[in-house]
Amino acid sequence: MQISAKGVSKSYTKHNRSISALNPTDIEIQSGKLTVIFGRSGSGKTTLLNILSGLLNPTEGSVSYDDKDIYSLTDSELSQLRGREIGYIPQGQSGLSVLTVKENVLLPTAVAGKNNAQQRADELLHLVGLDEFSQAYPNELSGGELRRLAIARALINSPQVVFADEPTNDLDDENTRLVFGLLKKAAADGAAVVAVTHDKAASEFADIEYRMDGGNLTQTETEEQ
Ligand SMILES: Nc1ncnc2c1ncn2[C@@H]1O[C@H](COP(=O)(O)OP(=O)(O)OP(=O)(O)O)[C@@H](O)[C@H]1O
Ligand SMILES: [Mg+2]
Repeated sequence: MQISAKGVSKSYTKHNRSISALNPTDIEIQSGKLTVIFGRSGSGKTTLLNILSGLLNPTEGSVSYDDKDIYSLTDSELSQLRGREIGYIPQGQSGLSVLTVKENVLLPTAVAGKNNAQQRADELLHLVGLDEFSQAYPNELSGGELRRLAIARALINSPQVVFADEPTNDLDDENTRLVFGLLKKAAADGAAVVAVTHDKAASEFADIEYRMDGGNLTQTETEEQ
């Protein structure tokens, strides 16, 4: 999957003033690589991630997946693309409270019309260290456990594209390494993986690094070939 954003920007209106959250940005996301975008709070990281993942229409510019402009798709085409090809780990807590941990992990398989994912769900729950919570409910989990639930859920369909918004926010060092290791593995298995974070530990796992500063994106590091 070749993802290419050209001239994407975002302005918001706040108190009748227009503010630019993201200045015109070009970025190509590579399959098989873990791309990490660092940046301070409010610098525009979530804005860019949401534009890249089809969640937020840019004020200007376009985003294409394999030469298909995603913002010219119909809502149902875009939902299908997102359901089938994209794993998304949102910033903050998520998890449907009426479903068990395992049912939450399996949710994207229902959306994509896949079955027989039980074994993969068990494997992922094991990888993120939540085996014993599989039948628990999200309100019985800690913040860090909920983050790990979100990661298992994002990877259940083995998506071609993974977006992670501060995936290690509530995690200790050990789990931080575990999560970046899982994202790195998803990339090694061929996915295009993009993580935004202010966690320095990500650097060790990143193939390509960018920095976001006041809505301006610059590439800071590319792995040696
Ligand atoms: N819906 C919105 N309406 C108005 N302003 C917004 C909206 N969403 C974001 N902003 C503003 O756009 C700027 C960039 O926000 P964004 O969420 O992309 O930052 P971020 O880098 O993800 O920050 P954080 O690390 O705190 O999550 C901020 O100044 C924010 O206040
Ligand atoms: Mg953010």
